[in-house]
Amino acid sequence: MLTAMFGATKRTTVMTSKPRILVTRTLMEANENRLRAEFDATLNPDDHIMSADEIVAASHGMDALLICVTEPLIATTIERLPDTVKAIMTLSVGMEHIDLDAAKSRGIAVLSTPDAVNDPTVEVAMLLMLGAARRATEGAALMRKHAWTEWTPRLLLGTDVTNGTLGIFGMGRIGRTLAQRARGFDMTIRYHNRTRLSFEEEAGASYYTSIESLLPASPFLAITAPSTPETRGFLNAERIALLPDGAIVVNIARGELVDDDALIDALKSGKVAAAGLDVFNGEPTNVNPAYLELPNVFITPHIGSAARNARAAMGDMLMDGLNLLLAGEPVPNRVV
Ligand code: DGY
Repeated sequence: MLTAMFGATKRTTVMTSKPRILVTRTLMEANENRLRAEFDATLNPDDHIMSADEIVAASHGMDALLICVTEPLIATTIERLPDTVKAIMTLSVGMEHIDLDAAKSRGIAVLSTPDAVNDPTVEVAMLLMLGAARRATEGAALMRKHAWTEWTPRLLLGTDVTNGTLGIFGMGRIGRTLAQRARGFDMTIRYHNRTRLSFEEEAGASYYTSIESLLPASPFLAITAPSTPETRGFLNAERIALLPDGAIVVNIARGELVDDDALIDALKSGKVAAAGLDVFNGEPTNVNPAYLELPNVFITPHIGSAARNARAAMGDMLMDGLNLLLAGEPVPNRVV
């Protein structure tokens, strides 16, 4: 298949055969069908997690790698990739598992899946917020233990979400989508972001210039910021102390933004009434066990974008982006 475009001024890559892609995990069937049809794809049918050495060895002759958050590509791995590799595509909006500077210095493009993850991730954010506020873990446990004997007016009283106030840390695409959904519950929206949004984008949300000023004003706090050296561990004991008593914390970003010991202490003392968590330090196998035991924690296993249509759209976005890249066209989902 001839994939190249021969525009006079465009930088093009001439390919006389289908682009070769190494796919490190088992993807949605529709994605794999397209990969087989449109590309020369090496798939991973047993879905094992490939080591860095295995990825480097399997990359020989590849034009692109399609990876997930389970495959950290650190600088020394990227340095060992063969020169044929023109793109690293990650089935995620999170980028912390890829050394972007190393990719840039090798001239390897990095493509991600912005926008495709907004709606499903925000669905889980709402699920976590509602589940934490309305004590879903305790309610489910009562039912599953056959321990519910009587309805009483005070049974499992939770916190009202409707008309509540939500502070959002990180007002990118996911934060803004969350604000939109939360407005459906008549919530007041406050936020902190590195840069203030435009008047239209704010849509009535109040901007707080620092995280320290946002926290005391956030009876509900949602963490939607990317994991960066600046944000890692930001929710520590000192900052938790700034939250209103009985606050509810939701994390759909990355576990490393939270100091687990500090949050667990606050959940035990009631300073934080409940937490809804989809992402964890040490996930998947080394999650702090206290989160699994505390009744006021509503947890899900990093399923933010795990909705069928969205997952398929993520794969399509990467393949579309690769086609554009190889044709020398601008790639909307190119990060580097
Ligand atoms: C993302 O898009 O970053 C999700 O966490 C899935 O990897």
